[in-house]
Amino acid sequence: MPITQFSIPDPYSYLNGFNSYHESEAVKGALPTAQNSPQKPPYGLYAEKLSGTAFTAPRHENKQTWLYRILPSAAHANYQALSEDTYHTSLNFKSDGQNKLHYIPNQLRWNPFDLDEKVDWVHGLHLVAAAGNPTTKSGLGILLYAAGKDMGNEAIYSADGDFLIVPQHGVLDIQTEFGKIIVRPNEICVIPRGVKYRVKLPSGPVRGYICELYQGHFELPELGPIGSNGLANSRDFQAPVAAFDDDEGNPTDYTVISKFNNNLFSAKLNHTPFDVVAWHGNYYPFKYDLGRFNTIGSISYDHPDPSIFTVLTGQSDHPGTAIADFVIFPPRWLVAENTFRPPWYHRNVMSEFMGLIAGDYDAKIGGGFRPAGASLHNIMSAHGPDANAHEKASSVDLRPQKMGEGSMAFMFESTFMVGVSEWGLKSCEKVQEDYNAESWEPLKRHFVNPEKKGIPSG
Ligand SMILES: [Fe+2]
Repeated sequence: MPITQFSIPDPYSYLNGFNSYHESEAVKGALPTAQNSPQKPPYGLYAEKLSGTAFTAPRHENKQTWLYRILPSAAHANYQALSEDTYHTSLNFKSDGQNKLHYIPNQLRWNPFDLDEKVDWVHGLHLVAAAGNPTTKSGLGILLYAAGKDMGNEAIYSADGDFLIVPQHGVLDIQTEFGKIIVRPNEICVIPRGVKYRVKLPSGPVRGYICELYQGHFELPELGPIGSNGLANSRDFQAPVAAFDDDEGNPTDYTVISKFNNNLFSAKLNHTPFDVVAWHGNYYPFKYDLGRFNTIGSISYDHPDPSIFTVLTGQSDHPGTAIADFVIFPPRWLVAENTFRPPWYHRNVMSEFMGLIAGDYDAKIGGGFRPAGASLHNIMSAHGPDANAHEKASSVDLRPQKMGEGSMAFMFESTFMVGVSEWGLKSCEKVQEDYNAESWEPLKRHFVNPEKKGIPSG
């Protein structure tokens, strides 16, 4: 079956479908019929609208959800800025809201990032690379996370963008305002801008990657001549069902943390923020099992552009050009005849940040690209298979071959030139100094000049 065999079962229920208009109520009758904001909503709940797009966005882009909750989100004390010293994060979030980023043309590769059992989700976020600016809703952030402790009575939301979370190690049990989601390695989830959540770690330490989209939202890519099915299918995306905590008689002190222009703020409230009894709309968190991806490739010769492996895309205002594409390299059959089967050598007008969830990536077999590591090939930075992979692929017997069993590499590809953070370039101490020397400098010349050898050309 095209699903991942997870070692940890999923205890929760879900609503299936991508960008579907869903409704869910944890208490029967909590959703008003027809209207959104009756004078007295059912059971004394408050109605609250969460917008994912401008009110006037075109209908096919418009995203919103109506929440029916015990107390509205506005019921909290003032937000206070959290200093980096207090919070001990390495988000590189500076008081002026801008990170010091290094824009460099070198190919970069990182050794596996460390686990960190001492911190929770919020304290375990590390900005690696970024482009643009959340204040103008442009660009993206690329983060690593490593945590070993459950969040306490805290919730976090990002006003800056949508989090696309790619676990590499460990299980995330995410309580959101909309309900609960389990996310395991080989699954991804998206927590949209503004949605409050907290993360527990039922199987111990966790580690993984995040792409934060400052502009727009993740969509399914157009399929063109592929037709109406293929790649990631709509029905395989799962949204949580409504679930709420009721702290009546025993009000719980909570802290809500806001990621706001890449600064962190916190506010106190004397009740749980996870009090949404029912909701309806098309703006909600969701998850997806990468094992369900319907991988498509060449059955004749050469291989298509890697865009054929796009799971989700965050489009810019220019059609076909992404702020961030999320692309995977799943297990697949390679059958192309008379073809150099690994990725070709290339220079890309887009930037490519790659990570590895498990196994080997076919362009870098047995090399320095390892699970929990990463690479960045920025705009026009040349790259391709390393010398070993080239030698092997140039002479291998081209029989049908199953590639990548047990492996899953992925890419965040962006039209933006991304800068690398101080943490990513220096403090994490994972950058490999010998990436080029190991990968491409050993490439041998194979050219035989027919004019010098006296061989007739053509
Ligand atoms: Fe590439």
